[in-house]
Amino acid sequence: MARDVTVDPPRLEIRNLAKSFAGKAVVDDVSLTIAPGNVTCLLGPSGCGKSTTLRMIAGVEMQDSGTIHVDGALVCDTVFRVPPERRSIGLMFQDFALFPHLTVGANVAFGLTGPKAEQEERVRHLLSRVGLEGYRDNWPHELSGGEQQRVALARALAPRPRIMLMDEPFSGLDNRLRDGIRDETLAVLKEEGTGVLLVTHEPEEAMRMADEIALMRDGRIVQIGAPYNIYTAPADKEAVAFFSDINVLQGVVHGALTDTPFGAFLTPGHPDGARVEIVFRPQHVSIDFDRGGRGPNPTDRAGTPARGVVARARFMGSESLVEFRMDHDGEVLRATVPNVFLPAVGTPMWLTVRRDRCFVFPAAG
Ligand SMILES: Nc1ncnc2c1ncn2[C@@H]1O[C@H](COP(=O)(O)OP(=O)(O)OP(=O)(O)O)[C@@H](O)[C@H]1O
Ligand SMILES: [Mg+2]
Repeated sequence: MARDVTVDPPRLEIRNLAKSFAGKAVVDDVSLTIAPGNVTCLLGPSGCGKSTTLRMIAGVEMQDSGTIHVDGALVCDTVFRVPPERRSIGLMFQDFALFPHLTVGANVAFGLTGPKAEQEERVRHLLSRVGLEGYRDNWPHELSGGEQQRVALARALAPRPRIMLMDEPFSGLDNRLRDGIRDETLAVLKEEGTGVLLVTHEPEEAMRMADEIALMRDGRIVQIGAPYNIYTAPADKEAVAFFSDINVLQGVVHGALTDTPFGAFLTPGHPDGARVEIVFRPQHVSIDFDRGGRGPNPTDRAGTPARGVVARARFMGSESLVEFRMDHDGEVLRATVPNVFLPAVGTPMWLTVRRDRCFVFPAAG
């Protein structure tokens, strides 16, 4: 029996987008798709090409090559180009300035066409949805930063865009306000079925907001996936380092094993004689006291302990970050420990590493 399968086209599909300025590739072969109601975060360091990618999708910058589809329809390739205002794309940028000479209600209604009664109903619905039903006749300067942000969201959503492009929209808000507004914004966008491409250089924001994270570096997407997958199966050392401090052990592979001061690590898939880097996060290092020059016994899970001396200990609130100068090579390794414990500089201690939380990559260079 034939199955009746209806598949909605992705809200947004970009294929092989590329852009150079003065001969330098700023966006290099970027492809991604966003399903209805899904949020993809474009995450990467300053200058990696995030805003340029957004500007091409919005239609304010023309790509050198590649295609953009919205709801399955081509909006731009290198010859055909739908103008920005007809792409069904909403924009929300860091400087989301409301129109100061228009009331809150008029700001939200700004992009609306059609019968007046319908426009008014849409404005009423959105203002109530963002918790500002009483503010319709206020002026923007009478609102707090967070309230203005919510008006900007309502304004961007009013014409029912298929895609919302957001470029660091929360970076102007203070921390306490930001969490609430992020969650609220997400809820409204999901409810409207909008596809969202959100640019940020903050990993915490991406983890909090994204269904998928597209990790970008030097104009390219190096990895795409759910936050959990990116965090637990990173593509390379830099991808690990983007989300936390890292520790690195160098080694050479001998018969699928690599010897380190923490014992031998299984490093299958790397050729004999290859130089590898074993990378792990500070939260996967455990510490123990020195008992007359001896530490804890080796275990299958943590291997052999190695000794170091506290070089620096910083209290961070919910945890402390402790740096150790290791006896074996004088290099520094970092461990995070619960804040109740802050060892004094110079204290000798033994470190063990959760082997199942280590990543092995070919050594750079
Ligand atoms: N119109 C332009 N002309 C020349 N170079 C440009 C132009 N627009 C962007 N660039 C360059 O392209 C690179 C990427 O810029 P882009 O604004 O996309 O970075 P970004 O990832 O958004 O960074 P940030 O996180 O700092 O906002 C930068 O080196 C920038 O100087
Ligand atoms: Mg930018």
